[in-house]
Amino acid sequence: MDLIDKKIVITGGSAGIGKSFLKELIKRGANNFAIIGRSEKPLEKLTQEFPDVNFVLIQGDVSALRDIERIVLMVEKHLGGADVLINNAGVVSAGGLEDISDEDIINQININLTGLILLTKKMMPLLKESKEGAIINVSSGLGYIAMPFYSVYAATKAGVRQFSDALRREFHMYPLHIMTVYPTATDTPMMKNADMDKEMDDPDMVAKESIDGLLNGELNVVFGGEQREKDIKTNFEEPLKIDEKAKAAYDNLKQRTKKHRAM
Ligand SMILES: NC(=O)c1ccc[n+]([C@@H]2O[C@H](COP(=O)([O-])OP(=O)(O)OC[C@H]3O[C@@H](n4cnc5c(N)ncnc54)[C@H](OP(=O)(O)O)[C@@H]3O)[C@@H](O)[C@H]2O)c1
Repeated sequence: MDLIDKKIVITGGSAGIGKSFLKELIKRGANNFAIIGRSEKPLEKLTQEFPDVNFVLIQGDVSALRDIERIVLMVEKHLGGADVLINNAGVVSAGGLEDISDEDIINQININLTGLILLTKKMMPLLKESKEGAIINVSSGLGYIAMPFYSVYAATKAGVRQFSDALRREFHMYPLHIMTVYPTATDTPMMKNADMDKEMDDPDMVAKESIDGLLNGELNVVFGGEQREKDIKTNFEEPLKIDEKAKAAYDNLKQRTKKHRAM
C-alpha cells in the first residue's frame, strides 16, 4: 500500500498510541488526516506540532450517535473521502466486576465497542470507494487472553477482535485490508494510574510495527513477544493452564489495578 495521498481517519489521534500512529504515518509520507477526540486543546495542538500536514480536526465522542454522524459528514466534506480508518479511541476502567460503577461499564462498552462498530458502519460507504484502503482496529492483549479485574474491558476488546474478522470476511470483495492490533501495556496517558510492575512498550514502536504490519498485509499484529503468542494458543487449547497463571497473579493484579481508570 502506498500511504502518500491516502486520506486517513484516526480516532483518538490526539494522544497515546493514536498520536504515535499519526507521527508514524507522517514520517512515511501521509499528509491528509481527520483526527477525532473529545477534548479540543490536544487536537488544536496538532496543527502547531505538524504545521505542514492537512488536518480535519473533529471534536467528538465516538460513542455518541450524533457525533458519529457529524464525524462522517465532516470526513466526507472536508477530507474528501476516506481510505484508511484507524479505530484507536478507547478507555479503561479496571477493578472487580462488583466494584466497577454501572456508568463505567456502560461507557467502556459504548466507547470501545458500540461506537467503534457504528463509526465503521457509517464510514463504510466512503471506505468502499477507496481504490486501496484499510481498517485498523486497535484491540488489546486482553482481547485474546482475559484477566481478572479487566472483565468489561477484555469483553470489549474481544468484541473488537471478532468484529474485525467478521468485517474482513464480509467485505472481502473490496480492496480493503482489515486488520487488528493487540498492544500489551504501553506507556501512554491511559496507563498513568495502572501501577505497572514491568517496563511498558513505547507507543511509537507499537505504531511503527502496526504500520509495518499493514504494509506487509498482516491480519493481526500481536505485541508481547513469543511468550504471548504461546499463551494465546494455550488459552485457546487449554484455558485451565491460563486460569492457573491468573490465580498465581491474582493478589498482585488486584492491588495494581485498584486505581487503573482512564475514562
Ligand atoms: N496503553 C496501553 O497499555 C494499551 C494496551 C492495549 C490496548 N490499548 C488500546 O489502544 C488504544 C489507545 O490507547 P492509549 O493508551 O493510547 O489511550 P490514551 O492515551 O488514553 O489515548 C486515548 C485517545 O482516545 C481519545 N478518546 C478516548 N475516548 C474517546 C471518545 N469517546 N471519543 C473520541 N475520542 C476518544 C482520547 O482523547 P480524548 O480523551 O480527548 O477524547 C485520546 O486521544 C485504546 O483502544 C486502548 O484500549 C492500549
